[in-house]
Amino acid sequence: MKTILVTGAAGFIGFHASLRLIQRGDRVVGLDNFNSYYMPALKEARAALLQKAGVEVIRGDLNDRAQLSSLFEKHPFTHVLHLAAQAGVRYARSHPEAYMESNLQGFLALLETLRKYPSIKLVYASSSSVYGLNETIPFSVKDRTDKPANLYAATKKANELMAFSYSHLYGIRSVGLRYFTVYGPWGRPDMAYFSFTKAILEGTPITLFNEGKMKRDFTYIDDIVQGTLAALETESLYEIFNLGHHAPVDLLTFVSILEKELGRKAKKVFEGPSQGEVPITYADIQDSQTKLGFTPTTSLEEGLRIFVDWYRTIFLKI
Ligand SMILES: NC(=O)c1ccc[n+]([C@@H]2O[C@H](COP(=O)([O-])OP(=O)(O)OC[C@H]3O[C@@H](n4cnc5c(N)ncnc54)[C@H](O)[C@@H]3O)[C@@H](O)[C@H]2O)c1
Repeated sequence: MKTILVTGAAGFIGFHASLRLIQRGDRVVGLDNFNSYYMPALKEARAALLQKAGVEVIRGDLNDRAQLSSLFEKHPFTHVLHLAAQAGVRYARSHPEAYMESNLQGFLALLETLRKYPSIKLVYASSSSVYGLNETIPFSVKDRTDKPANLYAATKKANELMAFSYSHLYGIRSVGLRYFTVYGPWGRPDMAYFSFTKAILEGTPITLFNEGKMKRDFTYIDDIVQGTLAALETESLYEIFNLGHHAPVDLLTFVSILEKELGRKAKKVFEGPSQGEVPITYADIQDSQTKLGFTPTTSLEEGLRIFVDWYRTIFLKI
């Protein structure tokens, strides 16, 4: 049995990962600051379900080092699944400090705490956005990632470098997971699939940047959780994996699938490219398949059907 600290447990991926871990019999302690980047009531609803399932949910910020230390003193953690971060690409234009605080200082606080516990294995969220202006597709972990197209991407790349330093200097074993556009029930209201669903149901317009030609490697949450849990089992000192569906879809096609699931047509407004957004994300998952057994199985149609059903039956009541 593992004892796992999940940071960002009240967040989208943290919620699903924590639930799966507790259901399979691990001990899970969740840490989250319940910030108001998006709808705190949704975070509260996720946390309530986690607590019901047996997860201990702690309210607190990564940067509260005294609290972090006492958590590690109190619990015999074997693993840390670090998912807490300031996510979102566009928000970084108006709130750059939030990315510095949570993604850089917060990550440093965690690494510094782990220095005292070098036997604890760290799995942390990176992002497909580290590929930035990379033009080779599909994106391979062997590609260069030194041209981040926005500040969010720069902080995620910095996390990978910081994790490397700490593995090299202090023997902290880590796995970085480059997630590709994760979607599904209990998802994030700031992401397009979510805000498009709301707008289509309410009859308000949706904006399609880059004339709807932007492609995203949409990856269903259950597939992401499988890959994430498999990463907890790896033994190497420092590794990075892509977790993406390996099947990019352009936004126009994506919207037409969503329209079908919702039984309504979207009011589409087409605009030019959005600054900081990359034209395509596309994961090369050969390594993840071999080493993590990562084989995404949920089609976009199936995943959006489950999401829409959750949106109508649960989300609208939160
Ligand atoms: N969802 C995606 O498509 C996607 C893609 C690439 C990478 N990621 C990364 O995966 C991780 C999880 O993403 P998500 O979609 O679940 O996001 P999320 O925003 O739903 O979850 C993050 C959680 O972390 C918490 N948090 C933020 N800063 C904190 C701090 N300083 N201290 C304590 N808690 C804090 C937030 O309250 C939130 O509940 C993030 O690191 C994100 O950058 C997500």
